[in-house]
Amino acid sequence: MIVVFLGPPGAGKGTQCKELVERYGLLHLSSGDALRRHRKEGTELGQKAQSYMDQGTLVPDDLIVAMMMDEMKNIEQGNGAILDGFPRTIGQAEELDAALAKTEAKVDVVLNLEVDDSKLEERITGRRSCPVCGAAYHITFNPPQRENQCNAGCSELTQRPDDTSEVVQNRIKTYHEQTSPLVEYYQAKGNIVNIDGNVSIDKVTQSIRVAMDEMTIA
Ligand code: AP5
Repeated sequence: MIVVFLGPPGAGKGTQCKELVERYGLLHLSSGDALRRHRKEGTELGQKAQSYMDQGTLVPDDLIVAMMMDEMKNIEQGNGAILDGFPRTIGQAEELDAALAKTEAKVDVVLNLEVDDSKLEERITGRRSCPVCGAAYHITFNPPQRENQCNAGCSELTQRPDDTSEVVQNRIKTYHEQTSPLVEYYQAKGNIVNIDGNVSIDKVTQSIRVAMDEMTIA
């Protein structure tokens, strides 16, 4: 099963993917995480992606598609994946469909997490994560047990460099201009379900469970 997770920056895609991985045994493939890994390792792709990410604009399609095709080689036969943050343009979606068609696969479910713009900045600027285990927190909505410390005791929490108010506004603008047209693209295919992401983390999880069960049984 291939699940695409759509939603604006800070909507809660990464947060909800954890549950999807555990419940449905899907591999979590996040384009943002893959890019940050390339940056950390100093690869050519990481260097090329840096300025786009720092400004909150999209990395060019050809670079992203090549990277995600490589990531998707890790999907084991018979198991599926959740694509978090990819595709993010119509061009990327078309390339994904073409690549999947070669193996007689397709995008089975698109989860479209809808969150009002007014909530996104607070969610993003309050996000903290553990640089060691990757656990994600929010200073208000999902605080760690001890201030600024990972609950697993690994490390002090850090903030992503693109999680500033200024960059967030660019990321939201980029989402509306280049990514939101994907909603119509998938509506035409009939495999998209809208999820209200304005409510608490637990309530969103519940809605996703219901949607996934309906979409995968249908
Ligand atoms: P990426 O890393 O994908 O960032 P993003 O899409 O902007 O999404 P985020 O990771 O910021 O948010 P999220 O929805 O996962 O929210 P989270 O669960 O953490 O991309 C970064 C950059 O890489 C892009 O700007 C671009 O440059 C490049 N890039 C990536 N993919 C690309 C592509 N395909 N093409 C081209 N370029 C690409 O939640 C956020 C916070 O809110 C957390 O603190 C969480 O605890 C909290 N929270 C979550 N849910 C709730 C809730 N229901 N209520 C209250 N708080 C909540």
